[in-house]
Amino acid sequence: MLLSIPDVLSLDDVRNVRTLLDQGVWRDGRATAGGQAIHAKQNEQLRTDSDAAQAAQEQVLQALQRSALFFSAALPNRIFPPQFNRYSGDTNTYGDHVDGAVMHTARTGDKVRSDVSCTLFLTDPADYEGGELVIQDTYGTQRVKLPAGHMVLYPSTSVHRVEPVTLGARVSCFFWVQSMVRSDEQRRLLFDMDMNLLRLRQQGENPMTVGLTGTYHNLLRMWAEV
Ligand code: NI
Repeated sequence: MLLSIPDVLSLDDVRNVRTLLDQGVWRDGRATAGGQAIHAKQNEQLRTDSDAAQAAQEQVLQALQRSALFFSAALPNRIFPPQFNRYSGDTNTYGDHVDGAVMHTARTGDKVRSDVSCTLFLTDPADYEGGELVIQDTYGTQRVKLPAGHMVLYPSTSVHRVEPVTLGARVSCFFWVQSMVRSDEQRRLLFDMDMNLLRLRQQGENPMTVGLTGTYHNLLRMWAEV
């Protein structure tokens, strides 16, 4: 399932995060790339060992906590600490690749299985050219370029790339989620059910909404690993 989530960050939040990122230290993105990705990856990535970078990470994590849509779609068990990248000048693209299956955090060495990949856009699309996130999967090829503060979420099993940025700079946040529900198909069923239940409940609770909400939770209970 590929899903866009609008307004994860307000424009004020985006400005705050961008100010923090400007205080951080950027380095060649290949420093954190694995075997296959190292040939494809030509961007810059923020070092996350500064106070400013950690404040930016915290701001993104807090925004995720507030997003009911993110919770429903990703059913997060563990979230990899948000990372930040920049595409501009000579380091402006990331060719086709699949994200590694298990991510290790730099600070603690904790492992997070990548079930869901997320990109939170932090640049107004009018400020750069190119830089589309192109995601290929069974649902076809999707080209994603969202307003600042909006996020796309997609299965980590997908081949994807970032097209060259030919003008300006594209700054984004990205991270992975280990979901309580490992299967994309099961997550999608739960998400569809949750969204429809939400609409149904707006007409008032009744024995059917109570029963169906029970079914949702019983499916989640059957499939979730926590
Ligand atoms: Ni990737």
